[in-house]
Amino acid sequence: MCGICACIGNFLCKDFIIDGLKKLEYRGYDSAGISFIDNNALKVIKTVGDIDALSKLAEGVKADAIIGHTRWATHGGVTVENAHPHLSKSGKLAIVHNGVIENYKDLKAQMDVEWKSSTDSEVFVNLIERQKEDCLIRKVISASKKVEGSFAIALLSADGEIVAGRRENPLYIAEVDGGFVATSDLYVLSEKTENYFALENDEFAVLKKSGVEFYDKNGEKIAKKQQKIEKFNKISAKFKNTHMESEIFEAKDVLEKTLDFYLKYGFSTIKIPKNLQEINFIACGTAYHSGLVAAEYFKKIGLPSHTYIASEFRYGNEVLNLNALYVFISQSGETADTIASAKLIKESGCKMLAVTNTQNCFLNQICQNVLPTFAGKEIAVASTKAYLAQVFSLYLFACFLGGRDVKEASDAVSKFEIVDFPDSLTQYALKFKKIIFVGRGLDYITALEASLKLKEISYINSIAIASGELKHGTLALVDNETLVVGILTQQKTREKFLTNLEEVKARGGEILLVSNCIEEGYNCLTLPNCAEDLMPIYSVVPLQIFALKMCKKLGFNPDKPRNLAKSVTVE
Ligand code: G6P
Repeated sequence: MCGICACIGNFLCKDFIIDGLKKLEYRGYDSAGISFIDNNALKVIKTVGDIDALSKLAEGVKADAIIGHTRWATHGGVTVENAHPHLSKSGKLAIVHNGVIENYKDLKAQMDVEWKSSTDSEVFVNLIERQKEDCLIRKVISASKKVEGSFAIALLSADGEIVAGRRENPLYIAEVDGGFVATSDLYVLSEKTENYFALENDEFAVLKKSGVEFYDKNGEKIAKKQQKIEKFNKISAKFKNTHMESEIFEAKDVLEKTLDFYLKYGFSTIKIPKNLQEINFIACGTAYHSGLVAAEYFKKIGLPSHTYIASEFRYGNEVLNLNALYVFISQSGETADTIASAKLIKESGCKMLAVTNTQNCFLNQICQNVLPTFAGKEIAVASTKAYLAQVFSLYLFACFLGGRDVKEASDAVSKFEIVDFPDSLTQYALKFKKIIFVGRGLDYITALEASLKLKEISYINSIAIASGELKHGTLALVDNETLVVGILTQQKTREKFLTNLEEVKARGGEILLVSNCIEEGYNCLTLPNCAEDLMPIYSVVPLQIFALKMCKKLGFNPDKPRNLAKSVTVE
């Protein structure tokens, strides 16, 4: 969480930083700030709010070295004081930081500083300033040895030098228009340059107008190779209102790209244990839900399969199996708990696979065995198209491992259409205080994802439950202020499910049914048909649109849900 962007050079640094921070906003948008040199001294401009607010305050700023930050609060509330950049005691050093310094309280206790914020980052910049070394890069390296935790940092000194470095959080360096840039995400560099350098853990860079130098953790200069940036999707012209809207409407493209790729190249490059006995999925958020769907696919081809929430798995007591494949699903490939779980599995010697949507991400580097998804860059905090890409890629992978035909997949893609969620039903749903999503089997997983989308962007109180469980507690919540959204695409449990809905009706709850069968007596959104296993792909899209429409009707911005960020790089 948090995005950093720093640049130095004789080009439009301020415009570059503002544009870069806008692209980084999905990593956090509580507050933002920049630091630059003005009359030989470091000046800081920061504000609570988004980059548009910062941009107004920074009008007229001219500088050839700037560091900037967009924040998702970890230590310290959302205040101007806690916004980055933070200055050192002397005022001669400014820092922007993404990460968490775990031992900051101990370090803070050893310093005599009049603290301006409650952040760990202010402690870090002061720690750097206190180091005895003779130049900034050596001070930074020395201080980095004393901190525990994670960081991607950029420091600007009053002499006009920028030093950047990282541990666990990403940082990329590139040359742009004869100047040099350090940033948390390659997306900032897209359309600006084709090449970049990726800093590894405990590597550092000095950015000057004349060039860039790289250092390892011992302070030795190192040579680094440039890598190529992949092309990022632009928002399609037709749906340019919000990222989320545009991303939902890319669904068919994503499915087609996924099918084309895996029909052409198959899965032969993926390393699988010789005696594969079990396949397990580990992920967070929406990616966890795609893991739940995937596990059902693998069970159907006879492989025992489990799905774990990464933040639970890493501290849990799971018994590992050397003949299992551990699959880490992550759109960003950066999520802290997923990464930590992957590191655990790596130590155990078990086989691992990364299912990611991001080139060269940490998860890919750890797993060294990658099943890429083809959703294209996803910016909106609420994941939509990436979910489809994950579910569909893993369905195809299960077909491959199970020796099954992919004809049903081709049919599902060719017949796929985006089912809009009608405005009349949105209006109807708005009158309820609670919305409970229910389903059985695969439909229960869709219910979980639909409920997550709704609460994430519209802040409506919502849960999801397997409909058979309603009577074991949740039915007590049902009253005439409750809407129950039932998802029904799985035939095996159809009758049982309809009985569960009747039990809701009998308690005064109202029902909205999302189904590919027509059921009399319900408000119903009808879905097209495809193979039952692939119905989660058909049913989730109108429910994503439902969340989007509810969010917009309530006057919220779907791309910037409160309290959340897209890349969760802290525990
Ligand atoms: C955040 C995002 C979710 C996402 C989850 C996991 O919570 O808001 O949309 O599903 O992180 O992210 P990952 O990049 O690992 O898929």
